[in-house]
Amino acid sequence: MKDGDEKDGVPARLREAAFAAMENAYAPYSRYRVGAAILASGGEIVSGCNVENAAYGEALCAERVAIAGAVAQGMKTFEAIAIVSESEDPAPPCGSCRQTMSEFAPDLLVTSYALNGKQITWRLGELLPEAFAPDHLRGRM
Ligand code: THU
Repeated sequence: MKDGDEKDGVPARLREAAFAAMENAYAPYSRYRVGAAILASGGEIVSGCNVENAAYGEALCAERVAIAGAVAQGMKTFEAIAIVSESEDPAPPCGSCRQTMSEFAPDLLVTSYALNGKQITWRLGELLPEAFAPDHLRGRM
């Protein structure tokens, strides 16, 4: 275990970035705040929060906000994502977020935290087996 790592191998700074991002969540409609932080292969961390809208269907998930922000800054490969939400138990990411994670990091380590200290870690392959992937478009790109 490297210095600063927690027992599941998630760097403490990644967890802290997710918790800090949750404080910025804009969730006046669901009142369910979510924070996420993604660790790029170069060691950079980019965070995101959910951003809701009066047009409910336009809500953005924290995980995809984090990934889009990282991609916009030039990162394309990732090692781990930390997620925290205001739920009883650690919440798994939604299907759309899983698909977005899979595009860039099919083997991503996904750790979800609840506010009561519970946490769960998965590999993305467990959460999204048989993912539709860039390979399925082979020959068309
Ligand atoms: N949400 C996320 O941010 N990530 C997920 O993986 C699931 C749902 C947000 C969207 C919305 O703002 C609120 O949680 C309730 O669905």
